[in-house]
Amino acid sequence: MRFRVEPMRIEHIPAVGTIERRCFTQPWPSNAYRKEIQSNRMAHYFVVRRVDEQSPNGVESGTLAPVTAVAASSASPTSISGDDGLLGRLARLFRGPTEDEPSTAIEAQLPRIAGYAGLWLMTDEAHVTTIAVDPEYQGHGIGELLLLGLLDRAKQIGARKLTLEVRVTNHVAQALYRKYTFKEMGRRPRYYSDNGEDALVMWTDPIDSETFQRALRANREILARKLEEHE
Ligand SMILES: CC(C)(COP(=O)(O)OP(=O)(O)OC[C@H]1O[C@@H](n2cnc3c(N)ncnc32)[C@H](O)[C@@H]1OP(=O)(O)O)[C@@H](O)C(=O)NCCC(=O)NCCS
Repeated sequence: MRFRVEPMRIEHIPAVGTIERRCFTQPWPSNAYRKEIQSNRMAHYFVVRRVDEQSPNGVESGTLAPVTAVAASSASPTSISGDDGLLGRLARLFRGPTEDEPSTAIEAQLPRIAGYAGLWLMTDEAHVTTIAVDPEYQGHGIGELLLLGLLDRAKQIGARKLTLEVRVTNHVAQALYRKYTFKEMGRRPRYYSDNGEDALVMWTDPIDSETFQRALRANREILARKLEEHE
């Protein structure tokens, strides 16, 4: 299986809503995602889509052009996209579709959405608003691929740091965040109304710090290998 990070589009929202309901006890209504991508200028949302079918000439189905902004920061895979090696292959995961992709092609892709994530840029802080992987796809690097997409976008749009809230009991998500220098910097008591659970408030090291950049480089490389093994 091959996966690619792409900007979230209206056509993806039904699949996003399905994953949302599978992953969260307090799901956002689907129109919240519609508003986010249509009218919130602070918002940046992505999906991960399966692109594992090959056309006869070896080009992946779904039409691909080297577009998405995810790959456009200096630390992003764009800067290594000429490389035929491991990192170059990872770069291809971050390329997006052309804007005029036919809707029939999009409809055919709906079951292929494996996860999604988003952030808001507020001044120079990137707030991760959500990240989720369909349970069917969890544990194979998709969540990490999405987080890398957010980190690349955050750098590209001028964020200095990233922050998020996570349930104190959500050890899986916390482990993912810690790999990318997120640390617990505070706690919001009884933040989640369904069970009164506290939220941890986590922040990364500065994006331009050596610790952050080192974590990004090392983890990106390891993830590329992992995803390649599953192709
Ligand atoms: C959190 C979530 C996005 C992770 O996505 P995923 O695709 O399953 O995770 P990945 O396979 O990319 O794993 C990335 C890292 O997450 C952590 N992780 C993943 N599964 C784990 C598990 N079962 N136990 C502990 N840590 C785990 C590890 O640190 C892993 O890195 P490693 O492979 O080097 O150990 C996913 O589990 C999910 O959608 N959960 C439900 C929604 C949710 O809780 N979102 C977060 C809200 S704050």
